[in-house]
Amino acid sequence: MTDIASYYADLTALEWQIDLGADEAIQDTPVNRYEQAVKPAKGAIPKTGPNSNIKPVDFIPVIPQVQESAPDIARIMAGRCNDLTALRDALAVFEHCAIKKGARNLVFAAGHASARVMVIGEGPSRDEDRTGAPFMGRSGAMLDKMFAAIGLSRENEDGQGALYITNVLPWRTPQNRDPEPEEIAMMLPFLERHIALVNPDVIVALGNIPCKALLGRTGITRMRGTWVEAFGKPVLPMFHPSALLRDPAKKRDSWNDLLAIKARLQP
Ligand code: URA
Repeated sequence: MTDIASYYADLTALEWQIDLGADEAIQDTPVNRYEQAVKPAKGAIPKTGPNSNIKPVDFIPVIPQVQESAPDIARIMAGRCNDLTALRDALAVFEHCAIKKGARNLVFAAGHASARVMVIGEGPSRDEDRTGAPFMGRSGAMLDKMFAAIGLSRENEDGQGALYITNVLPWRTPQNRDPEPEEIAMMLPFLERHIALVNPDVIVALGNIPCKALLGRTGITRMRGTWVEAFGKPVLPMFHPSALLRDPAKKRDSWNDLLAIKARLQP
């Protein structure tokens, strides 16, 4: 290639790179731009001016790294679910909650989505972790008995008699410990979406953990029996069935709460 041909070849190559967006030539020696940039502390407004050792010309703005938190990821994933199958699938691939690693099964829900009553428990324990269905053990048998007394069942597919059951957490915690507030917060977007997709007329919060998740407070003995609202739905806090197994004297209060649910469902 002649000098002049080589000159035009190089020029064409350069123009092509400029067309592609290149705006700086590579230098003979590398430049460490991390050393050049003066990074402001997170959230701080960089100080410039006479009292600062950062001169305006030195200050190179640091583009914030978009790093979503686990609850943000949960919210994005849950928000994309348009039906319950998609929600279950999203939970199955959600890897940010550490308790999932120790659990055998995802425990999603039971009952028919046409139900007017959605029961929210705490989270799976051993029987549920083994079978993948909520409320399978002794407290599940008690729950079924309680709601059968007002004509509702997880086996019923007709909206009037159906009962939909889920939990705050879809995985068993190690040694059945109470979930940490961070774990509840992380899984809350999925629960919120779950409620929106089932769209029940009333929600029953069984015990302190669903009260904490839905209402931000605990104190089930005081809270039970009083209707409140969460996510735009009426919520009735009630004793967890396992509390009735431990202390049968609580059954009287629970019976009154069940009657309140029945009355609320009247047209
Ligand atoms: N307790 C709960 O709160 N949920 C279950 O699924 C089982 C026991």
